[in-house]
Amino acid sequence: MVKDLQQEILKLKKEKNITILAHSYQAEEIQEIADYTGDSFRLSELAVSDKNSTVIMCGVHFMAETCKLLSPDKKVILAKEGCGCPMAEQLSADELRQLKKMYPEHTVVAYINTTAELKTECDVCVTSSSAVEICRKIENNKILFIPDCNLGAFVAEQLPEKEIKLIQGGCPIHAAVREKDVLNEKEKHPQALLLVHPECVPSVTKHADYVGSTSGIVNFAMKSEAKEFIIGTEISIAEHLQYVCPDKEFYPLSKHLICPNMKRTTLPDVYKALNGGGLEIEMSPEVMKKARVCIDRMLELG
Ligand code: 13P
Ligand code: SF4
Repeated sequence: MVKDLQQEILKLKKEKNITILAHSYQAEEIQEIADYTGDSFRLSELAVSDKNSTVIMCGVHFMAETCKLLSPDKKVILAKEGCGCPMAEQLSADELRQLKKMYPEHTVVAYINTTAELKTECDVCVTSSSAVEICRKIENNKILFIPDCNLGAFVAEQLPEKEIKLIQGGCPIHAAVREKDVLNEKEKHPQALLLVHPECVPSVTKHADYVGSTSGIVNFAMKSEAKEFIIGTEISIAEHLQYVCPDKEFYPLSKHLICPNMKRTTLPDVYKALNGGGLEIEMSPEVMKKARVCIDRMLELG
């Protein structure tokens, strides 16, 4: 049944010249039918140079928006309407305008996991892999980092020369992992290396052998000589690594590391999106223009 639907999707996307992007937190059966898989910004970059003018994003809303911002002339469809990232929606543009009044001398750095509307109020974007390097290159030493206080704290620790102002925000899934989860898993697997996403709290990242984005974690584990790893990010990454590296052992840091919104997209949703379903991403020309500025600034500095 799954295989039949996958075949039908592969046939349809070819007939209709539609490209499918799948974030690496999507279910394996969706990643299998995608043209590209990976982290959110990389997917949007790959879509730019892709020949097709219609793209389906299997992920959450801000990822589809980023794709549209980078490819404004393409039709970008979010495979399942209503899949959002709670962190991206934590801060409104109005609240950010208030914060900017409180910190008028600060450069506003936005994690890519933000809405396009919020990006219109920001100076520069970062991804989890580029955050430290980009903040280092910003000439102003005063930075207001939004919305993830854990990624922001990780950046601040690497860049003591910067004065980084954080707000109360973050990923409810990664931030729920506790230090006791680390101690439990390390006790069960004393030889394993601990690889952690910087959206986790500092009491967790401080124990890590490597802190990095989802693609950073995958690359580290694949290249490493070590045989056992505790994976401190969404559970799909541990599952995917186990699949591609059968000679190594991967243990999720917590069984609760599941992003429900990432898991809402199903193969039937992708099939429907190929047939006119899903949500087409539309933004006003003003939002498109302003939100693009902080992405371009990231590309200049990155
Ligand atoms: P990456 O950019 O590391 O893929 O992160 C996306 C995300 O949503 C992390 O929770
Ligand atoms: Fe958002 Fe966290 Fe889910 Fe990533 S894992 S999409 S940051 S809620």
